[in-house]
Amino acid sequence: MTIACADPWAACQDYLATTCWCHEDVPQPDVNRRYALVLWTFAECLAAQTILEIGIGPTAASGCTFLHHLAQRPHGHLLSVDIDPTLPLPVYRALAVQCGVAWTVIHGDSLEVAVPLSPGAVDLLYIDGNHDAVHAEGDLLKFLPYLRPGGYLLIDDFPPQKGLGLGRPAIDAMIPGHLHLAHAVPHGNGRLVWQRPL
Ligand SMILES: C[S@@+](CC[C@H](N)C(=O)[O-])C[C@H]1O[C@@H](n2cnc3c(N)ncnc32)[C@H](O)[C@@H]1O
Repeated sequence: MTIACADPWAACQDYLATTCWCHEDVPQPDVNRRYALVLWTFAECLAAQTILEIGIGPTAASGCTFLHHLAQRPHGHLLSVDIDPTLPLPVYRALAVQCGVAWTVIHGDSLEVAVPLSPGAVDLLYIDGNHDAVHAEGDLLKFLPYLRPGGYLLIDDFPPQKGLGLGRPAIDAMIPGHLHLAHAVPHGNGRLVWQRPL
């Protein structure tokens, strides 16, 4: 770890507020903090060392949250897939270097690219790429086998507004007992959370 800080979550929040979200037209600090806190909490409670992320985004908020978490781990490795070859922006690549975290970036359509991982190698899988029905179904089917027993799956913007492909019963059968953390309680889309049984 090359970032020395007494409170890595506080450092992460400061970074997100001043680097990732500082250009927002409508500041929404509480929403942003909750967005990052969910990711942080699940990564921390697993002491995740290998994280696979689908969808980097122009402000790389999830990636930067994971980098701050992984900076506290001796073998932290973030793998991210994005169709946009300009992502992550250089400022976020620099953060990975500063954190001493290996960041493998794979460019291409998530349904077509190969990821250099063995099945069961991932502690935390975060899916936040294309939210159309084909990818909602396809990303889950393709990347779920990489999640280790006991690892966490998180899907952003679930259920996706453009549909689920497989449909809800099939999803429920694949990942039985998943939680839905709604952005607007008690309904509305939000985060799907599931832990692969040990
Ligand atoms: C909602 S943003 C991700 C936000 C990011 N997780 C964050 O916290 O800032 C979605 C990202 O998915 C990428 N994306 C869209 N379609 C994709 C596809 N078919 N394959 C891979 N990435 C895709 C976009 O380029 C974009 O960067």
